[in-house]
Amino acid sequence: MKLLLSNAAEKPVVTIRCREDGPLVIELPRESDGQVRAEVRVNDHHGQPFRLPDHKRAVALCRCGHSGCRPFCDGSHRERQFRASETAAAQPEGDD
Ligand code: FES
Repeated sequence: MKLLLSNAAEKPVVTIRCREDGPLVIELPRESDGQVRAEVRVNDHHGQPFRLPDHKRAVALCRCGHSGCRPFCDGSHRERQFRASETAAAQPEGDD
């Protein structure tokens, strides 16, 4: 998978959120009217893009390995009781 990110103040920021005991969720930046402000592509190891669900506000990537539609999450992590609760180290104030 290849993902391009930007953190420059004037550019949209794509956030990848680690859900506790669940997938990696790519949250797409949106305008106030709900329009997506950035393009996200998830490519396979050949560089071919996976088709992304266009009706969702976020893209969830499986990290448990049990999804039937990898690389995307299909909710199988719940029945498999996948556990992942890692957290990021606290950052000093104003260091984001
Ligand atoms: S993280 Fe949801 S199915 Fe793997």
